Amino acid sequence: MSAQKFLFHRSKLAGSIADRLTGESPFGAEQTLCLAAPRRTGKSTFLRLDLAPELENRCIEVVYVDLWSNRDTDPGLLIAESIKAALRKAEGIPVKAARTMGLSKVGVGAVSIDIEKIGQPQGTTLADALETLLLRLHKRIALLIDEAQHALVSEAGMNAMFALKAARDRLNTRDDARDGPNLVVVLTGSHRDKLSRLVLGRDQPFYGASVQTFPLLGRDYTDAYTAWINERLAAGNRFEPDDVYAAFDLVGRRPEILTQILKDIALETGDAGELKTTLSEGAEALRRRLWEDYENAWSSLTPLQQAVIERLSDEETQAAPFSAAALAGYSKTIGEAVEAPAVQTAIEALRQKNLVWRSARGQYALEDQGMSEWIKARA
Ligand SMILES: Nc1ncnc2c1ncn2[C@@H]1O[C@H](COP(=O)(O)OP(=O)(O)O)[C@@H](O)[C@H]1O
Ligand SMILES: [Mg+2]
Repeated sequence: MSAQKFLFHRSKLAGSIADRLTGESPFGAEQTLCLAAPRRTGKSTFLRLDLAPELENRCIEVVYVDLWSNRDTDPGLLIAESIKAALRKAEGIPVKAARTMGLSKVGVGAVSIDIEKIGQPQGTTLADALETLLLRLHKRIALLIDEAQHALVSEAGMNAMFALKAARDRLNTRDDARDGPNLVVVLTGSHRDKLSRLVLGRDQPFYGASVQTFPLLGRDYTDAYTAWINERLAAGNRFEPDDVYAAFDLVGRRPEILTQILKDIALETGDAGELKTTLSEGAEALRRRLWEDYENAWSSLTPLQQAVIERLSDEETQAAPFSAAALAGYSKTIGEAVEAPAVQTAIEALRQKNLVWRSARGQYALEDQGMSEWIKARA
């Protein structure tokens, strides 16, 4: 197979999301969109290669930041850095030159902000920075925040989210925002329950927005991909579109896993007659392998740890693992009295194993939503 990579463009989806953001839909502009889909299903690819160009074509400045690009860096800092980079680009100053020349002040008319201090305490607020960008470019701005739920793990990340909301409200109540929002925010995430934390409560930064399902790749993708691969294979060695789609669906619509299966078959059997059976066997084996990880993790847990996991899986965004109801539930499941300290210990152990996630504000969720699917499927 060629080393060249296949990319399926989703321009219709990009167009409809851009319409919703700019207000070209019958429902008016949606200033904040919150989209969730599982890991490795194509969210970042779509944001960078389809949505960003579509917005740019509409003369909207795109600022993209992936909060997982460096998981150890504070999400608040990553957001500030991305806005800083956009301001620098707007100024036409190369990053290096700006540093060495000490050119950190950017001004529009009488306003001047210090871009080195964006997002810092007593520094330049995100609202000031984004407003400067707006005035400098005379363009609306779209902020795309990938893996946005990661902002929840630190106070600074949460503060950045509140600062963004303030910026959005400020820029969109300016007189020049009458024909459409000056600042729109797209939040994507691999974990629906975590992402929901940003929008559900009154005390949450994007309260009022709702988390929507980001559409997974479908049959049009597998058909295009199948045709692309078949062109590169020997004439008698072809994949059937139906089989490829079935395999894709079976592995949670993750392009990389599909590619791996097709590659194994093309390299190993090279026999067209075998493709159908090998494909479905290959996909099922992979699915079993994915699930074996959960099975192994699960069987290494204590009964109380399992009960906590089950509860987090059931309660989703409502999860309150230390409530009286939760304690009573654990007691019933494991057949002995359970007190809060024991739950604390269990949850600590689960966090060490990377099975349970805790936000900076003490909210809990399963680290990996795939585990919840597995728990529900085996019940
Ligand atoms: N539209 C697409 N066409 C071809 N490959 C894709 C497409 N979208 C995603 N992929 C591939 O799937 C994998 C996961 O995509 P990515 O965008 O990183 O997912 P996510 O951000 O949801 O975790 C990558 O290897 C990527 O190249
Ligand atoms: Mg991604």
